[in-house]
Amino acid sequence: MSGNEMWGGRFAAGPSEVMEKINASIGFDKKLFRQDIAGSRAHSAMLAARGIISEADRDAIHDGLNSIEKEIEEGRFEFKVALEDIHMNVEARLRDLIGEPGARLHTGRSRNDQVITDMRLWLRDEIDGLDKGLEALQIALIDKAEAHADVLMPGYTHLQSAQPVTFGHHLLAYAEMTGRDRGRLADCRKRLNECTLGAAALAGTSFDIDRSMTAELLGFDRPTENSMDSVASRDFIMEFLATATICSVHLSRLAEEIVIWMTDRFGFIELSDAFTTGSSIMPQKKNPDAAELVRAKPGRILGAFTGMALVVKGLPMTFNKDMQEDKEPLFDAVEAIALSVAAMAGMVTDMEPRPERMRAALEAGFPTATDLADWLVRVLGLPFRDAHHVTGRLVKMAEDKGCDLADLSLEEMQTVEARITDDIFSVLTPEASVASRTSFGGTAPENVRAAAARARQRFLG
Ligand code: ARG
Repeated sequence: MSGNEMWGGRFAAGPSEVMEKINASIGFDKKLFRQDIAGSRAHSAMLAARGIISEADRDAIHDGLNSIEKEIEEGRFEFKVALEDIHMNVEARLRDLIGEPGARLHTGRSRNDQVITDMRLWLRDEIDGLDKGLEALQIALIDKAEAHADVLMPGYTHLQSAQPVTFGHHLLAYAEMTGRDRGRLADCRKRLNECTLGAAALAGTSFDIDRSMTAELLGFDRPTENSMDSVASRDFIMEFLATATICSVHLSRLAEEIVIWMTDRFGFIELSDAFTTGSSIMPQKKNPDAAELVRAKPGRILGAFTGMALVVKGLPMTFNKDMQEDKEPLFDAVEAIALSVAAMAGMVTDMEPRPERMRAALEAGFPTATDLADWLVRVLGLPFRDAHHVTGRLVKMAEDKGCDLADLSLEEMQTVEARITDDIFSVLTPEASVASRTSFGGTAPENVRAAAARARQRFLG
């Protein structure tokens, strides 16, 4: 046959070498072989149910598809660049294997509706896997938070010591972010779970097909409503990539904290050899490389989102070959986010806090200044703004003396505000500060334990 074996009828000559190279997607879309075969099984079952092909043809097609799936799984399948993509590679092999019935499979179908069904099926599975990974991360965070609900550390704003918090409270903040990430993924899954098969090239088909049956066989909630939208739209990919970007940004923040906590200045946590690397020249080094890589991944993932948005931007309806460029960035981003989640779950499980280092860090930066101001409000009835001012002067005094607020004498304090009593010292320890933060969502250890229990129910129930 001259030219292409799929459309040789109209073509006299084959493509140039570079045409074949730029055109082919088989190098990367062979990843979709299971989904492609599942789609063909469902499509042929539906064609037979509607009497469009015979039951004997359907059975032959199913046998052929089963063999092809095996061949690919066992590495015996010969992928051909000349056949462009996974769809035509599978279909051509089917015809080799079973002859004429194989040539009937593509009735009422196009690669345009086929590829997007494959992609939706593939991404749906990946989302399910990712959700499991995020759940494991939440378990690790909640377990660790519960175990260290009493461990005090400085809470920061502007990376300046702000108020004492507990390590458990800090970790539960990430369990919340992860929970919203899972919610966004679930939303994305819901919206993508519609079947495009039957949209055919773009306009639907004249065959009396049953799109609901195909959709149901493939576990979709329903067929897509509009055939043109079906083959033209890639917003489910953009939505996933945007969601993955947000998730990876969250992970990068915890990763950065792990890097900071691991420095010898901070020394807030230990990470075992399992999640660190040594230096080839500096024997003392224990580097948090996994955390640094998780910190870096948003670049790739946002890059994939940006790339995808730019591929679709300004594309006229409906399918355009540009859309083939959706695959590699998506595949890469899925791998990057899955690895990040797994690495983070591993690090959270692995890390152990060093409470003595965290407690020592609370000696600097006057983290109980707010507690002092609150005491002035509560006990002396000062307006908060005035209390803030008085506290500022006391902080300045301590700073000049090079001591902590609690080290000022009562007499010294009374030079700033005469009505201050001895009772003020009861609120100046980090322990008292944290214990007093009992408002809903606050950092008091008893709150943290209750929040961890609720998180288990809300996220893992
Ligand atoms: N390889 C193509 C893709 O990845 C499949 C659809 C091709 N359709 C077409 N009319 N050329 O999008």
